Amino acid sequence: MPDNDELLNSVRELVHARMSGQGAGHDWDHVVRVLRTSEKLAAEVDADRFIVRLAALLHDIGDAKFHDGQEKSGEFSHEILAQVGVDSTTREAVIHIVENLSFRKREVSEELTLEGQVVQDADRLDALGAIGIVRTIEFGAWKQQPFYRRWNDADSKGSDNQPTGVGHFAEKLLRLRATLNTEPAREIALEREQFMRTFLTQYFAEIGEALPSDLANFF
Ligand code: ADP
Ligand code: NI
Repeated sequence: MPDNDELLNSVRELVHARMSGQGAGHDWDHVVRVLRTSEKLAAEVDADRFIVRLAALLHDIGDAKFHDGQEKSGEFSHEILAQVGVDSTTREAVIHIVENLSFRKREVSEELTLEGQVVQDADRLDALGAIGIVRTIEFGAWKQQPFYRRWNDADSKGSDNQPTGVGHFAEKLLRLRATLNTEPAREIALEREQFMRTFLTQYFAEIGEALPSDLANFF
C-alpha cells in the first residue's frame, strides 16, 4: 500500500501533466500557489492536511473554461483518485470539496467542510494581491478586453457596459474578503487588498483621472 506522501506525489504528477500549458490564470502555477496557501491555512485552523492537499491539487482539474463550459473537476478527480488508489472515504471528502468550492456555484453549493473552507479561501486569495493583478490582466488579454477605457461618465464599465479589468476589481476582487471562511485568510486578504488599492491609486494618478465611482466605494 502506498503511503499518503506517495499518493500525493502520484496525484501531483497526474494533475501537472493534465494542466501544464493551460493559460488564462488557471495553470499549474495557480495550483501550486493554492496548494501552498492551503497548507499554511490548514496548519493554522487544524484541518486535515491530506484531504486539503488533495483537494487543492484537484480543485481546477476540470475547469469549465477548458471543457466547453462544462465543469468536470468532480468527475476527473474521481478518476484520478481511484487510479492512484486513494481510499473511498478520503475520495468522497475530496470530491465534495472540488464540486462545491467554485465562486460561480456559490448559490447552489452544499456547505463545505473545514478542509473545503480552507481550499476555497486559498483559491480566492490567489485572485488578490500582486498575483491577482497579474491574473486579472492575463484574463483580460485572453478575452481581448481592455484593462481600462476612458469614459465621460466616470464609471469603470463605461457607457457601453463592456467588461474591463478595472471593472473586475469593483465587481469581484474588492468584495472577496467578505466571502472568506477563515480568520487567517481574512488577514492575508486585507494585506493583499491594500496592495491592490495602492496599485489602482497609482494607476489612476498616472493617467491623470479620478478613481471611477464604482471603485471609489472601496477606498
Ligand atoms: P475561480 O474559478 O478560481 O474563482 P475564475 O476562473 O473566475 O476563478 O478566474 C480566474 C482568474 O481570472 C482570477 O484571478 C479572476 O479574478 C480572473 N478573472 C475572472 N473573471 C475576470 C474578468 N471578467 N476580468 C478580469 N479578470 C477576471
Ligand atoms: Ni482555482
